[in-house]
Amino acid sequence: MQTSWIPFVPDSASTVSGKVDALYFYLSGVTVFFTLLISGVLIFFVIKYRRRNPFEIPRPIDGSHKLETLWSVIPFIIAMSMFAWGAQIYFENSRPPQNANEIYVVGKQWMWKIQHSTGQREINELHVPVGRKIKLIMTSEDTIHDFFIPAFRIKTDVLPGKYTTQWFEATVPGKYHLFCAEYCGMNHSGMIGSVIVMQPTDFDNWLSGNASQQSPAVAGQQLFQSLGCVSCHGGSGEGGRGPELAGLFGRKVFLSNNQTLTADEAYIRESIENPGAKVVSGFNPIMPTFQGQVTPEQLIQIISYIKSLPGEGAKPATGAPASATSPTTTSSPAGASATPAKK
Ligand code: CUA
Repeated sequence: MQTSWIPFVPDSASTVSGKVDALYFYLSGVTVFFTLLISGVLIFFVIKYRRRNPFEIPRPIDGSHKLETLWSVIPFIIAMSMFAWGAQIYFENSRPPQNANEIYVVGKQWMWKIQHSTGQREINELHVPVGRKIKLIMTSEDTIHDFFIPAFRIKTDVLPGKYTTQWFEATVPGKYHLFCAEYCGMNHSGMIGSVIVMQPTDFDNWLSGNASQQSPAVAGQQLFQSLGCVSCHGGSGEGGRGPELAGLFGRKVFLSNNQTLTADEAYIRESIENPGAKVVSGFNPIMPTFQGQVTPEQLIQIISYIKSLPGEGAKPATGAPASATSPTTTSSPAGASATPAKK
């Protein structure tokens, strides 16, 4: 654990936490400086210009354009510096880097369900390696929650029917608080957990030591078969009733309404739950909705499978799709039933 260089703030353990603290320190400094300046000047003038006898009549004041310009321009510059600095940190914080390891988070009343891309599940605990970029892909099963790790200075709403992301890179091994920061019902205050930051080698050991479960992509592949997706999105490309999904993720998609978008998690999710919303150019809107038929976790698994399908001439995955991130991917066919391990 490492405490911050500023008093009264939480542990500081990510690459952005120092930057956030510096901005806060600046905001507090400006506030304290002007509070002291204004109250000091106020007291000084009260004494200096006090009424000295009952018949004293003060001189009239006409005002000063110079002074008024000065006290408008200076606060404007200060306010814009806060805005620019804050925006810069905000953008850095809200754009996950391309090469980040992905971890899935599902909030529900009143717990955090977490799954690593290699299949390991955790509840109210998040194990991460130090010095690696981690991207969280988050959704909720019920109401709005908010994933808050004070030591990392990150906090993002987790919404039903939507994916939100946040990312971080932990810098100091240790155990840190994880909170739900959105009132979500009776046991909101109990929706807490721990983030355990480990050395990379310890983390890899931890991952392989818990490798009893399927990766989300493998579970997703089974759902893809059992739900019948494969019969239209077979991947042959020829005579398919639905669009080819191999290499879809991150690719530009042309829609029947002449719009173009880039296929991301939100688009794939919408296409599963509300297939008629954005139909790919050249296809008929014949796909049935799967809303209510798959849990949020199964949805994540299917999306994870689609993401794992290689694009551009490569053959669609058959066995265990590579889930890219961990050196210890183990998808034993022994544990081969889709295990949504709910509740
Ligand atoms: Cu979940 Cu508050």
